[in-house]
Amino acid sequence: MEGAVAIDLRTRYLGLQLRSPLVASASPLTGSLGDLHRLERAGAAAVVLPSLFQEQLTEEARVLEAIAGRRSGPQAGQWALGRLRRYNTGDDGYLTLIGRAKAALDIPVIASLNAVDTGSWVTYARLIEEAGADAVELNIYFVATQLGLPGQEIETRCRDLVQHVRQQIGVPLAVKLSPYFSAMGNLASQLVDAGADGLVLFNRFYQPDVDPETLEVRPMLSLSSPAELRLPLRWIGILHGQLEASLAASTGIHSGVDAVKALLAGADVAMTTTALLRNGPDHLATMEAELRQWLDQHGHQSVAEIRGTASRQAAADPAAYERANYIRTLITISPPHSEPASTERP
Ligand SMILES: Cc1cc2nc3c(=O)[nH]c(=O)nc-3n(C[C@H](O)[C@H](O)[C@H](O)COP(=O)(O)O)c2cc1C
Repeated sequence: MEGAVAIDLRTRYLGLQLRSPLVASASPLTGSLGDLHRLERAGAAAVVLPSLFQEQLTEEARVLEAIAGRRSGPQAGQWALGRLRRYNTGDDGYLTLIGRAKAALDIPVIASLNAVDTGSWVTYARLIEEAGADAVELNIYFVATQLGLPGQEIETRCRDLVQHVRQQIGVPLAVKLSPYFSAMGNLASQLVDAGADGLVLFNRFYQPDVDPETLEVRPMLSLSSPAELRLPLRWIGILHGQLEASLAASTGIHSGVDAVKALLAGADVAMTTTALLRNGPDHLATMEAELRQWLDQHGHQSVAEIRGTASRQAAADPAAYERANYIRTLITISPPHSEPASTERP
């Protein structure tokens, strides 16, 4: 097209050169070769395979019992074990999936491990590398239910886990975290020191519901809304430029403009799952078109030009960034249904 400017979407993530910042995050959609092909055709710059759980490798009896729920007797444990072994094709099947995905795709394939703490199971990370994964994403999924467990101990556990997985592999390591840490910045820098090449912010915890009829805890899987992007935006905006690590935004990225926001905050890649589950893998092509259109309309020729321009680092006074944004929000936005401010003195 006459006058059209080529837009450079390339980005680097975990040391990998990617054609664009749009990455398909872990979900059942990245667990089948057919869908992986469709994601690549629609423009995915990389894919993260669904996670293999630490429990699938350790088969801890108490976890099996808890998974079995109200089922009782010796069959209950066997039932849970069977489900766990088949989930995401089990540990052998997972290595096969990595090998097949690598053979079938030209884009980087990132394997995912979901874990709570270290142990001999971490040697499995080496098998993942041997199976051909370009990188490993370690999803630390831990809810601190023990009241006696101090935050520092939890953070030490996370650091040890990252260090141990790092020791097993030569390929890049990303760490996917939940937002529920009291000192996110400090933890982030500890994890980078322990060997994380990138951070994925954030994981979503699945909050179970309670069924008032059966009186049971009911597993719930609700998909995200774009409003949830604000928490990743906030932390990526704060961390950008402060760590020797890549940053991936995850949660609430449904459109190309959501990806733009993540880049402006300082993300290297924008990961998406819900939008692809809702609209199918081809939605990635729409997101890429929206990203190109935004860049073009705002006079930019590359994603590199905009990265981090709305981050803390780019603020006139970085030290005041967080408090100032907070206070500005409160003093400039009227809550819905509020009375117009009176100018009369009482
Ligand atoms: C059905 C489903 C399965 C998921 N499975 C995994 C998984 O195996 N490992 C993982 O790290 N994240 C998993 N996730 C989380 C997503 O990768 C992503 O981080 C989260 O959904 C937030 O992104 P979104 O707002 O684009 O959905 C899953 C999400 C959904 C909805």
